[in-house]
Amino acid sequence: MSQELSPPRHVPVLVREVVDWLAPRSGGRYLDATVGLGGHSAALLEATGGAVEILGMDRDDQALAVARQRLAPWAGQVHLVQANFAEAAKVVQEQGWDGVDGILADLGVSSLQLETPERGFSFAVDGPLDMRMDRRLPETAAKLVNEASYVRLKGIIRDFGEEPLAGRIARVLVDARTRQPITSTLELARLVALAYPPTRRHQARNHPATRTFQALRMAVNEELPAVEALLRAAVALLRPGARLVVIAFHSLEDRLVKRFFRAEAAACVCPPRQAVCTCGHSPRLRILTRKPVTPSDAEVAANPRSRSAKLRAAERLPAPPQEVQT
Ligand SMILES: C[S@@+](CC[C@H](N)C(=O)[O-])C[C@H]1O[C@@H](n2cnc3c(N)ncnc32)[C@H](O)[C@@H]1O
Repeated sequence: MSQELSPPRHVPVLVREVVDWLAPRSGGRYLDATVGLGGHSAALLEATGGAVEILGMDRDDQALAVARQRLAPWAGQVHLVQANFAEAAKVVQEQGWDGVDGILADLGVSSLQLETPERGFSFAVDGPLDMRMDRRLPETAAKLVNEASYVRLKGIIRDFGEEPLAGRIARVLVDARTRQPITSTLELARLVALAYPPTRRHQARNHPATRTFQALRMAVNEELPAVEALLRAAVALLRPGARLVVIAFHSLEDRLVKRFFRAEAAACVCPPRQAVCTCGHSPRLRILTRKPVTPSDAEVAANPRSRSAKLRAAERLPAPPQEVQT
C-alpha cells in the first residue's frame, strides 16, 4: 500500500446483527472471508473481549494493509491472508486449522476501493478503468471493454448488470473504441449515458452507468463463481453448530445465497413428482433467517451504502451417523 494513502472511514454494515447471528464463542476460530478494512473482525474481537482467533482473507492488498493497522491491538489472534475466498478451504488448511466455528462473508466492494480513484471502481470520479480487487489479476476493466466482442460485452452487461439496455450500451462502446480506446471511468460513464435515450436518462433513479459498472466489476473479478465456491467450501469447513453469515448487496448475489441455503437445508432433493424418496440426501444447514435481515432506517440514514444490504445466516447441522468416520 502506498504510504500517502490515508484509509477512508469504512463503516461496516449490519455490525450488531453480524455479531448476534455469528454468536462468537470464547476460544472459537472464525473465518472472515472478506476482512476488508477490518471493521467486522474488530467488532467480533471487541464483542468477545479478544477471546477469538480470526483468519481474515481478502483479495485486496491495500485493504489488508488497512486491516492490519486496525486489528493491531489483537495482532496475536489475527491472521491475514491475501487470497480469493474461492480458495477458503486451502487457506484454512494452510493455517493448520481443521475446521472453523463460524464464517462471515460481507460481499462486494469496500469504501477503500470505491473512494480510491486509481482503482477505477467508481463512475463518480475519474480514474483508470481498472476494477481489479486483486491487482495481480491480468484482466482490467479497460482490457475487457476494449477487447471483448460485442456479444460478450452485451452478455456481461445484461447478465451481471441486469441492464435492459445492454445491447445499446455494448454497441456504443464497440463503436467508440474503434475511434480511440476507452481508458477512464468518466469516459465509460459518459458513453453509457449516451446509450440511454434522453427520457430514460432523466427518469433513472441512479446514474445510467450504475448497472454497467457493477457488471464489469463482476466480470473482471469473476465474482459469482467465487461466491459459489466459497459457499461450498464453507459447508465443509463449519463445525456442527457453527454459523455462516453472508451479506449480499445485489439481487444476483442474494439469490445465489438463498438458493444455496435452501438446497443445503432440504431433507430431500428428489423431483417433486417422485412418490418415494431415493436421493439419500441429508440436510447440512439449518436456515436461521427465514427472511433476509436488512438495515434499520437509522443505519441507512447514517450509512447510505448499507441500503441494499441483505444478511442471511445458517447453522451447520451435525453429519448423520452414516457420514461419521469411524
Ligand atoms: C464490503 S467489503 C468488506 C468490509 C469488511 N467487512 C469491513 O468491515 O471492513 C468487501 C471486501 O471483500 C473483498 N472481496 C470481494 N470478493 C472477494 C473474493 N472473491 N475473495 C476475497 N476477498 C474478496 C473485497 O476486496 C473487499 O475488501
